[in-house]
Amino acid sequence: MALLRIALSFLLSFLLLLCLTSSCVFSLSVDTISSMLPQGHAERLIRTLNLMPVLNEGGAVADAGGPPLQERRIHLNITGDSGVSINTEDLSHYAGYYKLKDTFDSRMFYFFFESRGNKAEDPVVLWMTGGPGCGSEIALFYENGPFHITHNLSLVWNDYGWDKVSNIIFVDQPIGTGFSYSTDMRDMRHDEAGVSKDMYDFLEAFFEAHPGYAKNEFFVTGESYAGHYVPAVTGRIHDNNKKGSGIKINLKGFAIGNGLTQPDIQYEAYADYALEMGIIGENDYKRLSKIYPLCAASAKLCGSKGTISCVAAYLICTSIFSSILSIAGNINYYDIRKECSGQLCYDFSNMENYLSEKSVLEALGVGDRKFVSCSPTVYKAMIVDWMRNLEVGIPTLLEDNIKLLVYAGEYDLICNWLGNSRWVTAMDWSGQQSYAAASWKPFKVDGMEAGSVTSYGPLSFLKVHDAGHMVPMDQPKNALEMIFRFTRGKSLFDFPSNIIEETSVESETLSSS
Ligand SMILES: *[C@@H]1O[C@H](CO)[C@@H](O)[C@H](O)[C@H]1NC(C)=O
Ligand SMILES: *[C@@H]1O[C@H](CO)[C@@H](O)[C@H](O)[C@H]1NC(C)=O
Repeated sequence: MALLRIALSFLLSFLLLLCLTSSCVFSLSVDTISSMLPQGHAERLIRTLNLMPVLNEGGAVADAGGPPLQERRIHLNITGDSGVSINTEDLSHYAGYYKLKDTFDSRMFYFFFESRGNKAEDPVVLWMTGGPGCGSEIALFYENGPFHITHNLSLVWNDYGWDKVSNIIFVDQPIGTGFSYSTDMRDMRHDEAGVSKDMYDFLEAFFEAHPGYAKNEFFVTGESYAGHYVPAVTGRIHDNNKKGSGIKINLKGFAIGNGLTQPDIQYEAYADYALEMGIIGENDYKRLSKIYPLCAASAKLCGSKGTISCVAAYLICTSIFSSILSIAGNINYYDIRKECSGQLCYDFSNMENYLSEKSVLEALGVGDRKFVSCSPTVYKAMIVDWMRNLEVGIPTLLEDNIKLLVYAGEYDLICNWLGNSRWVTAMDWSGQQSYAAASWKPFKVDGMEAGSVTSYGPLSFLKVHDAGHMVPMDQPKNALEMIFRFTRGKSLFDFPSNIIEETSVESETLSSS
């Protein structure tokens, strides 16, 4: 089987080479790849969640002649206790479309929620869900958004929404994801240069529309495939800040949750993690270990800029993951304690139903656009990017004291903590040795150990207990405490209890004294 795949990938490379001079490169690669994806893996990963998105379905929503950023206040009938004393009608929640510059016809959709805490001072946090091609609404409704969705499709305030401690932006990107769209296929993105340019252009327009927030500290965050997006977007912001081009974004740090950042190292960790967690046996392990050297060699060829070699690496390396899944049976590869049931191994149908209600679409200003929770089109368009190493830009950011938190729920297989911990340790920067020598310390919330941390200077790694891939969904309170400490420049391990409550008590005491 492995040999067959290798033969196929050489054939593919050959076809691509023949095609290089013409515009057929991309369409050929996508179709060929789709038909060649290792059985099982592709189906389970791309598992069609929605209808295939037709890019121009629904026509243009945003007014073509209007300003590039079209934003509106939204009122979504949130029930329950917001946990704050101010009238929640005064909280500003926005949704909007930004017409991306330098594209043919792209509209990027986003939500912006002002902080339930101190919106003037709290940081601005950008969240990106991975996929590639999954809408940030998954995080918004199931992880760290201001509200959760109930079975009767009503919204209730989330006690642990990250909007309690930050002004938070959820973006549907790359174009083709969620409610974002283009009427022109040429706007599809195939790499992080394209992804980060679109995000940066969006952010510039955002801060132009919300100039009061440009001075607030800014953090880039995300999960899963955002292990690619987050370093790329952070790097671009930092570069442009240094060049002095555009509105300065007050970039302070970035956080990656269960991400795919350094594929070479992370693909090696699959078999180790699966063996350690009892998902595979010794014999399976030995067999998989024979495939890895090929994966490693192709991943090295791919590096951070390869093209054809990256597609070959994708085919070879993902066969390791699909072999583990075929041995493991029906496990939820986002949380090995669970079975895979429903689309993407979780049931997000409440969100999908909610986001197709007419009153909701009207409130959001998206016309009759069909929401795409995870777009197979975007996924396939990004396959050349998958195996690229996004760790390479991180050392520069650390040297310039841009803080990085890599965190991972310990029961996730697909972007497991072991692979993440290894690439963080292997990263070559001035603090590498001190980081490697740092001991693991407990991350405590309310006196309980919620995770283990290693940290040195601007770099921290957190292994989160009792959580899978979606940490803020599985451990909402601990995740909020984590992002609070991280964005406030506090150590993750020096506080035994609950720093959010302590801080608010402190500031109340201060203001009343
Ligand atoms: C919907 O569910 C929420 C929470 O479960 C409940 O408070 C509310 O009364 C329900 N609304 C309706 C119309 O059933
Ligand atoms: C909010 O509730 C009102 C009154 O029931 C309703 O007319 C409106 O459509 C609701 N808004 C949304 C976005 O569901």
